[in-house]
Amino acid sequence: MSMKLEQQQENESTPDVITLLTPLQLGALSLPNRIVMSPMTRARSTDGVPTDIEVKYYSQRASAGLIITAGIYISRMAVGGINVPGIYTDQQIDSWQRINEAVHSAGGRIFAQLSHSGSVSHLSLLNGDTPVDPSAVNPRQKVMSASGYVDTVEPRALMTSEIRAIVEEYRTAAVNAKKAGIEVHGANVYLLPEFLNTSTNLRQDEYGGTLENRARIVVEVLNAIGTVWDHERIGLKLSPAISGIGTYTAVEHILKWLNDFSPAYLHLRRGFDTNRNPIEMLREHTFEHYRDVFRGTLIGNGGFDLATANAHVERESVDLVSLQGTTSQIPISWIVSAGTKPYRQVIPPLITRVSRRAMWISQPQYWSVATE
Ligand SMILES: Cc1cc2nc3c(=O)[nH]c(=O)nc-3n(C[C@H](O)[C@H](O)[C@H](O)COP(=O)(O)O)c2cc1C
Repeated sequence: MSMKLEQQQENESTPDVITLLTPLQLGALSLPNRIVMSPMTRARSTDGVPTDIEVKYYSQRASAGLIITAGIYISRMAVGGINVPGIYTDQQIDSWQRINEAVHSAGGRIFAQLSHSGSVSHLSLLNGDTPVDPSAVNPRQKVMSASGYVDTVEPRALMTSEIRAIVEEYRTAAVNAKKAGIEVHGANVYLLPEFLNTSTNLRQDEYGGTLENRARIVVEVLNAIGTVWDHERIGLKLSPAISGIGTYTAVEHILKWLNDFSPAYLHLRRGFDTNRNPIEMLREHTFEHYRDVFRGTLIGNGGFDLATANAHVERESVDLVSLQGTTSQIPISWIVSAGTKPYRQVIPPLITRVSRRAMWISQPQYWSVATE
């Protein structure tokens, strides 16, 4: 290839501005770029208390536009894995406070993802108690326990009064998160999506049946958190299509309501199946579809590399993109400083993916190697 042609191709594929690296105002927060670190459970906590290594892990990534923490469990019965962090004991709260401070002093921005696993848990993680759910439907998932992956069991259906108590637990957890923003985890197959989905919600009270009833717990949780936090500090993650448990149309109902709630953002994971293959139908146009329903800030997630992330932000189908595999391996400072280099030289090395083994390791002897 002639030097001239090579130069021409380089110029064509080098945009003047890498849109992904442009700033965005998110409520009171000024994000220096549009790369969000997607929540990722790393299973490194002890008794639900985040360890020093997690302080380092999060502060290392402070140059991301926004960090969203791993799922943080709001109560003892919410826990859905071994070595995952909680936010319901004083020690846990203090440790999250250290993480918030470390990220803020490194110049970063952080949202705490509040989670309840519902039936995607196990008796061995709940001191022998049966996991809870809207209805007694085994979600047939795998759960990481002290003895490796185990199958979920048939859960116990929650009483109506218990659902109200869980809403209160979310409010308390939001207070406990103190200086972080809040992301409510309504994605994958955990408690909140189990309410949204007809295959896991067979209830006949005000939390089951109609779209409004199935969406009720999500609305109540957001409203409860909204009594203790400005709405511009509250986000919601949803994943409207998951193979195995079907799609949940109650999502659209929530999104219409969400316009008035005016949250910091909606974080949308696009279609995937349990083998991590994309659901083709929703893949390319997921965000355009939901953009029409929800008018606020949208974070796109699912199967992006930096080039496709940039293309989506450029065509404005999303405002921000969250990445999981990429950011777990590569300190985000590399990505951001990469903005000053020619686009073609930067993108290919950054789309390398981390091995699944390094992403989610429950044995402490591996923790230090998996931090970087
Ligand atoms: C090991 C692992 C842990 C994860 N933990 C969480 C979590 O705690 N909360 C959450 O909302 N999503 C979690 N996810 C999902 C990611 O945030 C993201 O939605 C998903 O991996 C798709 O993005 P990607 O295509 O960039 O990987 C996890 C994914 C992986 C692989």
